[in-house]
Amino acid sequence: MKVLTTIDDEVSAWAQRARRVAVLTGAGISAESGVPTFREVQTGLWERFSAEDLATEEAFHLDPARVWTWYRWRQSLIREVAPNPGHTAIAQWQRHLTEAGGRLDVITQNVDDLHERAGAEVLAHLHGSIFAFHCTACSAPAELPEPDYDGFTPPEQTESPPSCPVCGEGMVRPSVVWFGEMLPMDAFDAAAEAVRAAELIVVAGTSGIVQPAASLPLLGLERGTPLVEVNPEATELSEAMDVCLRGPSGQLLPQLLHAATWGGQPGRTTTA
Ligand code: OAD
Repeated sequence: MKVLTTIDDEVSAWAQRARRVAVLTGAGISAESGVPTFREVQTGLWERFSAEDLATEEAFHLDPARVWTWYRWRQSLIREVAPNPGHTAIAQWQRHLTEAGGRLDVITQNVDDLHERAGAEVLAHLHGSIFAFHCTACSAPAELPEPDYDGFTPPEQTESPPSCPVCGEGMVRPSVVWFGEMLPMDAFDAAAEAVRAAELIVVAGTSGIVQPAASLPLLGLERGTPLVEVNPEATELSEAMDVCLRGPSGQLLPQLLHAATWGGQPGRTTTA
């Protein structure tokens, strides 16, 4: 495993040569847009809770208003922020490969829509979407108006989730995957197929803690596909990588795009 702070000739050549690329992203890719990652300390009404305390079915049943308001407020925040250069680089790389007859598959654990707003097509939202809702009892999808929060200021009061307009029995919940819940199988299978077919796998902005998403890039080991991590910190996945690019995705993904499009790299510094 090689640790770099900027891409080198080897990584540049991988990016330039690969006709099929799989990119797995996590909360870190949206951090530079202003969306807090899951391991950051919570604020306001939620300062005593970790994201893991809130993202479970038990938490929702114990205190539906607390969990519901947290998601609705995060939804407001995501609406107010914009994609950053990391999202844009992925979208441009995807377009470049598509035009050249290749393919770049975006697989994300994020429930935001910043990849799409940057112009990328997402193959798999492994953990669902914060903009979709369904009933806890009958699973009917629910349409809701946009929440009325200031995304940058945590609300001072909670609001209860609406009851299901279809069955009247259940509560409306966000269509995100909570801890302990199954991932959507079609999304996971499509992601696994894309990783197996890839000639280069990029893992950006994920701590690699949450399974089964974190195991996906390791499928590339079967074929010896180059694995590149983009993250300012070492993660659970770092040891399995060929190269760890240590830095923010908003700086490093544009370097990969540059290499894929034009070849070469803007500079190089090997730290380990
Ligand atoms: P985490 O919050 O666990 O990890 C965020 C990662 O992003 C960390 O490894 C940071 O070092 C990294 N990071 C921070 N800033 C970055 C930057 N500018 N550029 C690149 N990386 C940066 O987020 P996930 O790995 O996505 O699941 O978490 C996985 C899942 O756990 C989430 O989808 C969610 C969560 O609880 C559910 O809600 C089920």
